Amino acid sequence: MSREKLKRAAAEAALDQILPCMDSHTVIGVGTGSTANFFIDALARSKNRFDGAVASSEASATRLKASGIQVHDLNAVGSLPFYVDGADESNTRLQLIKGGGAALTREKITAAVAAEFICIADESKMVDVLGQFPLPVEVIPSARSHVARQLVKLGGTPVWRTGVITDNGNIILDVRNLSIIDPPGLERTLNQIVGLVTCGLFAQRPADRLLLARQSGVEQIRV
Ligand code: 5RP
Repeated sequence: MSREKLKRAAAEAALDQILPCMDSHTVIGVGTGSTANFFIDALARSKNRFDGAVASSEASATRLKASGIQVHDLNAVGSLPFYVDGADESNTRLQLIKGGGAALTREKITAAVAAEFICIADESKMVDVLGQFPLPVEVIPSARSHVARQLVKLGGTPVWRTGVITDNGNIILDVRNLSIIDPPGLERTLNQIVGLVTCGLFAQRPADRLLLARQSGVEQIRV
């Protein structure tokens, strides 16, 4: 099975799991990326079974609306029972690297609001130690050099993702060579850097459930 088919299988498994918990008042948090897009496509087929969605990016909001799904502002929503999103890497503790699609800040905010964060991924995303995938960080443009210097002091090699402006008007640095043996600790350290808006480590608030699509079927992992 191709990676695309595995992503679709994980997305459809997520919908199968949450549909019985949804009613006409339910608003779902929806992430960003190719796996999240498969989830949106699956969600569209059941759009009469829930109220609408909160999107973690303008791209996902556009896709949701095009699918006939109402998009709510997060500020107008009291609670989100579920946030469903992909990841660039996950370890067995469901600590993640995210932000390959540059949507990490709104993803982290939406995940923080959700009662349950369900991560959907193909098996290539599971790693023993986070960090093969360069860690994205969102940065205020005028702080780029300062933040880059602090990242170098931590042992990282930041690379400016040229041509990319986030939905919040910021830039992305992709950081290689970080030793991520303590993901929550590194997340706390990175959060202290002035001008760094969000780091792509989702470790202090990891996923609650990972639906990992393997060639043998979709495996559910909880911590
Ligand atoms: C976007 C993300 C995505 O979840 C991550 O990049 C995975 O993307 P894909 O599902 O396309 O592999 O964090 O900012």
